[in-house]
Amino acid sequence: MEFIKFDVIDSTNKYLKENYNKLNHNTIVSALHQTNGRGRGNRVWEDNDDLLFSVLLKDNLNNISNLSLLIASSIYKTFKKLYNIESSIKWPNDIMFNNKKIVGILLESVISSKIECVIIGVGINCNTMSFSDDLLVKASSLKKELGIVIDKDELLKEIMNQFEKDLNEFNKGNQEYLNIIRNNFYLRDKEVTFTYNNKIVKGKCLDISSNGNILIESEGHILSLNSGEVSLSSVYKK
Ligand code: BTN
Repeated sequence: MEFIKFDVIDSTNKYLKENYNKLNHNTIVSALHQTNGRGRGNRVWEDNDDLLFSVLLKDNLNNISNLSLLIASSIYKTFKKLYNIESSIKWPNDIMFNNKKIVGILLESVISSKIECVIIGVGINCNTMSFSDDLLVKASSLKKELGIVIDKDELLKEIMNQFEKDLNEFNKGNQEYLNIIRNNFYLRDKEVTFTYNNKIVKGKCLDISSNGNILIESEGHILSLNSGEVSLSSVYKK
């Protein structure tokens, strides 16, 4: 593991996309602040006093779409170890606590004739206390929920130690991470609307399959969908 730390950068994901050629496998880039932090769907990722980092993977690039589930399970375990909390994983890329989003994950890859690298970007709301009106109902931070100041360096070190072990197991075919996702599956039994084949569909989330797909019951059928083919647009409790 090699760490590169910036005070300010546009985006740690973008930095790795532009520099992966010169960097080693398992390089971690973190920043205290991003001027152009990116979220999924080209959204902006705002930060204040948060943990922002990206991990570069260049070796063993199999089954890459499940890497966001893998790192989510490593973060879940680290939250449990450091703060003794039960968070839940909102397949495929978010971690929730007290029904609010605390962590966002953005998986990107660089592909030419083969997959050159995968970049796992993670934003963890750590010490931010105020959120814009539209985020206030949906998002929170560890400090806001737990009432303690988060040591971001300690959190990053612990997550990466855990992730290194978990990635080793993942590359050997161990699927323990899927049990963590299933046992702490935020969407279980929730009704969702999603876009599938350009259509807006409603359904109920049932489980996670052994290949990391989400299983959704919709109009009498059970659909097994991967994160590339489904986009969840809203979640509501029945
Ligand atoms: C999401 O939309 O939920 C994903 C957010 C991912 C944000 C992180 S912060 C570090 C890394 N650099 C970026 O520009 N984005 C990711």
